[in-house]
Amino acid sequence: MSDFLWKLKSLYLGLFYCNNAHNQKYYQAWEVEALLHGKLKDMDSYPDLKLISSYIAEAQHILEVGAGMGRVVDYIVQYNPQAHIYALEIDPHLCQELKMKYKNNNVHLVHADVQHYTPTIQFDLILYMWSGLMDHNKHEQIALLKKMLTWLSPEGMIILDNSDRKGKGTLLDPENRYSIISGSAAIYVGYIPSDVDYISYWKKMNAHHVKRIKYQTETGYHRSLDVLTKQAIAPSKSGE
Ligand SMILES: C[S@@+](CC[C@H](N)C(=O)[O-])C[C@H]1O[C@@H](n2cnc3c(N)ncnc32)[C@H](O)[C@@H]1O
Repeated sequence: MSDFLWKLKSLYLGLFYCNNAHNQKYYQAWEVEALLHGKLKDMDSYPDLKLISSYIAEAQHILEVGAGMGRVVDYIVQYNPQAHIYALEIDPHLCQELKMKYKNNNVHLVHADVQHYTPTIQFDLILYMWSGLMDHNKHEQIALLKKMLTWLSPEGMIILDNSDRKGKGTLLDPENRYSIISGSAAIYVGYIPSDVDYISYWKKMNAHHVKRIKYQTETGYHRSLDVLTKQAIAPSKSGE
């Protein structure tokens, strides 16, 4: 396909299909494939979680959004076995797999769409890893972040993973912010927020941006983690 046609197609997909509901179809197939073939790519060595292990070790109530195959839950169980882990996942088949996997009383499986979830407790740590935010479009992203901030305990924090990789871009999108991946059953259309988007998100949600931790995976992908709190916290807690 020529570059022009690709950009035209991407523009159409970005405008009409970049939303969380659409991306579920991609995940259903992706997860089944991943479950069967163990395709965790370069995240299975925990390059992200190793960087935030001190936050994980200190938290008592942890919410993981989009638990997938349990990669993050596995890590938390190992580093903080006392923590109460709320693993939230929208996909029913994955939820079933996770239920069978974790018999531990400290792991609470929540089958829900994060956009409609209302927790009954407050969390010390909310993890949205492996570019989870990107599964939503811009409007969904800000609405979700605003909600998540209200789920935190007074000193709690949200940690968001972000891919610095850009898609091929569209005609109206010179910054190449749409990520378009053709899956076996459906096309995934994600939105990778720019730094300008992020700054506007922090402002709109009225959050304190503690820091950005940049990292690279074993295969060389550039990624970053953003740490957010409701209010400014002491330097010792921020890991500075
Ligand atoms: C890339 S996987 C990440 C898995 C895991 N967090 C990790 O880091 O290994 C994203 C997961 O989020 C789930 N997901 C997507 N949209 C969701 C939503 N609205 N509510 C809950 N889970 C969702 C998908 O089904 C998928 O399992």
